[in-house]
Amino acid sequence: MILGIDIGGSAIKAALVDTAIGSLASDRYRLETPQPATPAEVARAFRTILQHFDWLGPVGCGLPAAVTNGVVQTAANIDQSWLQVRADQLFGEAGGRPVVVLNDADAAGTAEMAFGQGKLQTGTVLVVTVGTGLGTALFRNGVLVPNTELGHVILNGQDAETYASAAAKTRQQLSLTEWTPRLDAYLRRLEELIWPDMFIIGGGISAEFDQMAPFLTVATTTRPALLGNDAGIIGAALAAAKLTN
Ligand code: BGC
Repeated sequence: MILGIDIGGSAIKAALVDTAIGSLASDRYRLETPQPATPAEVARAFRTILQHFDWLGPVGCGLPAAVTNGVVQTAANIDQSWLQVRADQLFGEAGGRPVVVLNDADAAGTAEMAFGQGKLQTGTVLVVTVGTGLGTALFRNGVLVPNTELGHVILNGQDAETYASAAAKTRQQLSLTEWTPRLDAYLRRLEELIWPDMFIIGGGISAEFDQMAPFLTVATTTRPALLGNDAGIIGAALAAAKLTN
């Protein structure tokens, strides 16, 4: 059993995860992301979560940033004061135990590949998480290439996530049928850059995939994620399991 935590732009979600079967082993606990989401405030929320679960075991944590060896390298949707912070140390000290920190999309993708739509899928798979930002997790024969940050490729002269994320849909009050061609344009851009065998679309929007499918013209096989909003929690726990086993 491992505690998985998914820190996002608007909410922080956590649950105990049975990493052998990739499913939640407790209720989901949700906190609003503190605003501004500074390292100190998020560390405080992190402590609250550990207290809630009365948890003394290992912890995995996804952050919406590129994270190399525990160090935060980008801050597109989190407070700029995260840059170069040793997130693994920050949370480790807040919780009094080792914490594995990784990119949130890499966490969600890891869960999808192990237990969801990507299970047994070989070749090149790109998991795209659609939320406040656009997150990507790239896999080759099931092995993750971490921190791809392809949500920031340039599309129509702007940062792709400014144009095609779920936040852009909300901000510009677009219906699903108005917005889906934007996601389609984004996938076509990725297609010409990495030629994957499959796209897996994650995030809350994956629940509406059936309504989106008629508007997707991209040639690459495109499927919805199966683990929905739990993927980030489950994948964070899986990342920690790998290091604690
Ligand atoms: C960040 C990524 C993150 C994605 C989804 C992007 O803005 O740069 O690191 O994975 O949002 O949260």
